[in-house]
Amino acid sequence: MRTFNVGIVGVGIVGTGVVKILLEKHSPLLEKLDCVPVLKGIADRNLDVRNRIDLPSDILFTDDVDILINDPDIHVIIELIGGLHPAKEIITKALEKGKDIVTANKMLLALHGLELFRKARQCGKSISFEASVGGGIPVIAALRDGFIANRIESIFGIVNGTTNYILTKMTKEHVKYSDALAEAQKMGYAEKDPSMDVDGIDSSHKLAILARIGFGVDFDYKDIYCEGISTIDLSDIWYAHELGYTLKLLAVAKRIKSAIELRVHPTLLPHDHPLSSVNGVFNAICVNGSAVGETMLYGKGAGQMPTASAVVADLVDVGLGRAGITFHAMKTFSGNCEHISIADIMQIKTRYYLRFSVVDKPGVLAKISGILGNYEISIASVIQHKIKENGNVPLVMMTHLAEEGNLQKALTEIKRLDIIKDSTKFLRVEE
Ligand code: HSE
Repeated sequence: MRTFNVGIVGVGIVGTGVVKILLEKHSPLLEKLDCVPVLKGIADRNLDVRNRIDLPSDILFTDDVDILINDPDIHVIIELIGGLHPAKEIITKALEKGKDIVTANKMLLALHGLELFRKARQCGKSISFEASVGGGIPVIAALRDGFIANRIESIFGIVNGTTNYILTKMTKEHVKYSDALAEAQKMGYAEKDPSMDVDGIDSSHKLAILARIGFGVDFDYKDIYCEGISTIDLSDIWYAHELGYTLKLLAVAKRIKSAIELRVHPTLLPHDHPLSSVNGVFNAICVNGSAVGETMLYGKGAGQMPTASAVVADLVDVGLGRAGITFHAMKTFSGNCEHISIADIMQIKTRYYLRFSVVDKPGVLAKISGILGNYEISIASVIQHKIKENGNVPLVMMTHLAEEGNLQKALTEIKRLDIIKDSTKFLRVEE
């Protein structure tokens, strides 16, 4: 049996999962393969970590990453420290020292992927990153290999478990946002500073990776539209439910004529859409390809063992030589693929959910619908309940397809009406 040696940099939750799989006595890898990864060393700044992992004495544990990088017997470095720095420098150095890289670092790839992939090509090495999106769901392999025959038309889905947990809690248990977030923090899903997840940034990193692989193009990451869930009010979840919709934080990538749409925002989906029943920390990604049609990949998008499952799959790909072949054949991140612009959010066309806070008197609906009509926005349905909020009532509407630029202009005009008593809430809809 052939073996190859591996060093892990950063042994937090996911790293510990990888160690568990690699040290498992009756590992499925041993049963299935003739080429098995062998854990040679671990580097972590926190030497105390050593006490909570049961490591055989022949595995090196160090707080000096250079010891692993300079070890000629280590063939692959698994980077699991996350963030931009020093992860970028560690990967660069390891490539220069002739190591292949496996990483789960979505932020680094979203922001500096092109530069790192160039470096890997120059060094004749590979970077594998299945664990960067969708945890244990093999979505990168699906886009890169399984759907290779397709022109990918759209990729959209739920790619952040923390926000999906929060929205599920709000929807199913009628818990307000701040309480649902506190529960997510208690469960260990959300960080103490939850902004990466709740502001949609984590989803936008993953969307950038999916779109680059799926569409085979490059673009400016900063142009991705990104809106999080922290301003979601329970009442919007209820009204949307009454209208037949479920609220999810979606990452959306779509081809349009000469650009692509890349956007992350809270989105209403019809109750019978498959993504509407993806709950808790689960992720699901829908890929629409020219030959395969509609597909959906579903599974645990985060957590120790699902993410470790993806890391080890990459590791095996490197060991078998597959990673080198696919990495070098792939145009993505090579600098040779088409640079495409991301459509401005004002150009997108969706249906919209609108919630106005208005005075309860005759003629209000006519005034609002008149302005919407002036901007080519047609109303599909309206609900108004007799709930008085400080003497005002919520007026909820669902529009037909409209351009966002027109909607924003109409809302600016509507805001000036004396019948409008509070800020207007709007949500985008995907069918
Ligand atoms: N914070 C991410 C999530 C997990 O909640 O989905 C890591 O990608």
